[in-house]
Amino acid sequence: MDVFAKCFEFTRDLEVQAAGLYPFFKTIEGNHGSRVVIDGREVVMAGSNNYLGLTGHPKVVEAAIAATREYGTSCSGSRYANGTYVIHVELEEKLADFMDKPKALCFTTGYTTNMGAISVLAGRRDIIYSDRENHSCIMDATQLTFAETRKYKHDDMDDLARVLENSPPDAGKLLVTDGVFSMKGTICRLPEIVELKKKYGMRVFVDDAHGVGVIGPTGRGTAEHYGLDKDVDVVMGTFSKSFAGLGGFIAGEERVISYVKHHARQLIFAASMTPASVAAVSTALDMIRSEPEHLQNLQKVVKQVRDEFRRIGYPVNDEATPIIYVKVGEDIEAFQFWKELLELGVYTNPVITPGVPQGQSGVRASFMAIHTESDIARVIDAFEKLGKKYGLLG
Ligand SMILES: Cc1ncc(COP(=O)(O)O)c(C=O)c1O
Repeated sequence: MDVFAKCFEFTRDLEVQAAGLYPFFKTIEGNHGSRVVIDGREVVMAGSNNYLGLTGHPKVVEAAIAATREYGTSCSGSRYANGTYVIHVELEEKLADFMDKPKALCFTTGYTTNMGAISVLAGRRDIIYSDRENHSCIMDATQLTFAETRKYKHDDMDDLARVLENSPPDAGKLLVTDGVFSMKGTICRLPEIVELKKKYGMRVFVDDAHGVGVIGPTGRGTAEHYGLDKDVDVVMGTFSKSFAGLGGFIAGEERVISYVKHHARQLIFAASMTPASVAAVSTALDMIRSEPEHLQNLQKVVKQVRDEFRRIGYPVNDEATPIIYVKVGEDIEAFQFWKELLELGVYTNPVITPGVPQGQSGVRASFMAIHTESDIARVIDAFEKLGKKYGLLG
């Protein structure tokens, strides 16, 4: 049996391409902030995680250029060996201070941050409690570790309590959850999780990739949003979203961070963040702290788009996050809806299984601090037209 047989049998991509509905790996020809060029046309970008709109900000761009001039284009090695530059250490100090935790540690991507940190924090004889709709890098981390993983129904605290009640009392327990769920933009039920933490003596690890820089009065994320900073043991964040770079971090107690630093293979055996990315992230962090207008603009846009979606008849609540999920149905219908949105000048992200359960495929629209009134009007107009056509409006 040829090990590649499955590759030749896989034809789903070709079928969807032949139907003219293939939505993935779409090429972006130009990036002008809230607008991008796709297929030679300028469209509104409503599918980016650049929530604060800082990736093209002159201060961030200049910092990345200056760091490249100073340190070169690559560190050419891992943090452990030859890839720790003074700017990596400075960034970690600033992050710890911002997150109000004793220490922080940076990895090269958000994905490997979770894989490295979770897989070493939970080991043999430990149990990981994981929401069924957690991000795939959390799922991958649970496959890497010797710990047992017990999943609970998405956002269902009764189910989590049931799973905890049926666990051996003396097992080490680590609860891992997205702070803001990346596909639907909902915020996890941290207050209930913290109650259960106290009852069952577990540790709590929050992946706040879509929360840090986005929610909470100063942008510190889900824990700050609920006023529960002290109750979260480890916060994980990524730099590819609000922080205008590439990389990830965890923040927590000094001994916990040191343990991860000396055990996580994804840190020890992978090249470190590039100087350009470190400098971009560091500058974005300074701006998040000293220029609250970026977060305020985002909050204004979030309120406006949520109000507008509700006005035109979508079942959208007033959650504080910039992600709006529109359920369309089966995969092929979601692709068709996505394509028609693009024809109307709006780029979104198609979401299909396993990102969401079967039959709940749709599109994910995400918003940025830099979206203008006319961008929002274009998005709302397109969603209204298609909502009527597809019978999605209430
Ligand atoms: C919840 C969550 N965690 C982790 C990651 C991984 O981060 P990155 O893409 O920066 O590696 C993502 C990215 O999409 C995410 O949405």
